[in-house]
Amino acid sequence: MNIKLSRQKWYYLLLFLLFLVACEKVEYEQVVIPDTDLSYSLDIQPIFDDKCTSCHPPTKGLDLNEQNSYDELVPAYVTVADSANPKGSQLYMKINGSSHSPRTTDIEKQKIEKWISQGVPNN
Ligand code: HEC
Repeated sequence: MNIKLSRQKWYYLLLFLLFLVACEKVEYEQVVIPDTDLSYSLDIQPIFDDKCTSCHPPTKGLDLNEQNSYDELVPAYVTVADSANPKGSQLYMKINGSSHSPRTTDIEKQKIEKWISQGVPNN
């Protein structure tokens, strides 16, 4: 079999590969969050207030309201040690698991992951 490609075919192949690379880049950029230190009270708790406290109120089980959420989650579901591998934390796996994944947007998931990678600060 002759697998030698003509110059023109190489050109089309190159264009096609460039197209694939470009598509991937666009998808990635849509979910990127600013590279700054996150604040638990300003960036993370509002996600819980908006997406979690309806099912996790003070009255039963896990309480994600602002007075208690940090102590409820750290260290039971996420610890400083998880900063080395945020995706391995109980909290990350829970919010990305099938029962919880639809509750948060990609950006919200990324924020929580980043907060974990920053050492779960209570700031
Ligand atoms: C529609 C209701 C609902 C919402 C909204 C919800 N959860 Fe849950 N969550 C549950 C239920 C039910 C369980 C227990 C069963 C399970 O583990 O899926 C649970 C369990 C958990 C657990 C494990 C602790 C436990 O009690 O077993 C964590 C951690 C958790 N949720 C975090 C969150 C976070 C963070 C959010 C917001 C992003 C959230 N949940 C939003 C219903 C909800």
